[in-house]
Amino acid sequence: MKDQIINLKNEAVGEILEAKSLEELEKIRINFLGRSGKINSLIKEISQLPAEEKKAIGRLINDTKKTIEESLQQTQESLKIKESKTEWLDITAPGSRPAEGHLHLVSEAISEITAIFSQLGFHRARYPEVEWDWYAFEGLNMAENHPARDEWETFFIENLENEKYGKGILTPHTSSGQLREMEKYAPPLRMLNIAKCYRRQSDMSHAPMFYQFEGLVVDKDINISHLKGTIDYFTKQYFGPDRKSRIRPFHFQFTEPSFEVDVTCLICHGKARLPNGQVCRTCKEGWMELGGSGMVHPTVLKNGGIDPEKYSGFAFGWGVERVLMMKYGINDIRLLFEGDLRFLRQF
Ligand code: DAH
Repeated sequence: MKDQIINLKNEAVGEILEAKSLEELEKIRINFLGRSGKINSLIKEISQLPAEEKKAIGRLINDTKKTIEESLQQTQESLKIKESKTEWLDITAPGSRPAEGHLHLVSEAISEITAIFSQLGFHRARYPEVEWDWYAFEGLNMAENHPARDEWETFFIENLENEKYGKGILTPHTSSGQLREMEKYAPPLRMLNIAKCYRRQSDMSHAPMFYQFEGLVVDKDINISHLKGTIDYFTKQYFGPDRKSRIRPFHFQFTEPSFEVDVTCLICHGKARLPNGQVCRTCKEGWMELGGSGMVHPTVLKNGGIDPEKYSGFAFGWGVERVLMMKYGINDIRLLFEGDLRFLRQF
């Protein structure tokens, strides 16, 4: 039955797109959505289905109906304009405004994040997504065979190898941009590298392709309070003045000390419980994990050609989709990539 419904949807949308006149469109509407139309006859069949299938099939039919209605409406609008043009022409009549969209949520978040950090003097950098092992691992203090590499579920590229920089990979994190920035510019540095990253992962909160934004500051006398101040500033600017942040000790090879950053949950505001006393299901503990950070490891500074005796720095790397989901309470990352207008129009 599922296939039958999907075929019906394709058939309807195909016919609608081909319709040449409003009259023809109306016939299509009656054929599919009319009282004795194809959708209604499918609905009648639901009662004969086994109970466990009823719900899913019912929902599928409903979605199909909605899709057909939407494409009917769109085609109707464009046919109306076409037909009215052949009937009369008044060049002084006010124009009809086309439906206006907006940038995709991820693009919007990238501009917003860039703007927040540019207030602090960070410049937007772009470094390669197809990287060498050196920049993504080895130069970040993760030698070949170091167990810390396992975290990253890397996509290696077959037959791509460089004598000096090692294997070719799809960059698993934006931290690779740290070394590239240090090679390119002398300190003081304030970089924000935003790029697509790739990992072998796929579930409700992880996608094989996602965006990260990486901050790097290198200057004289940089310490943890600069890092915490930057995190607090971002938290308040991006999530809102009532959200708080905290740092927890953690381990990364390329920072020392290292931290994981959390932000208070947007539903329970750090209390872990709802006003009715129940445990908050969004976060369970009051805090949501934003990502990693720390003070740049002296070895990494050295690898980037910077003298760790003279300079120090901090870095952080957080997911764009992740902060977006934490801001709005979106629970499934796939919604951000499906392009479903019913979701996107809510923003
Ligand atoms: N690259 C890390 C990851 O993808 C995140 C990260 C941790 C970035 C610590 C940093 C940092 O700059 O200092 O999991």
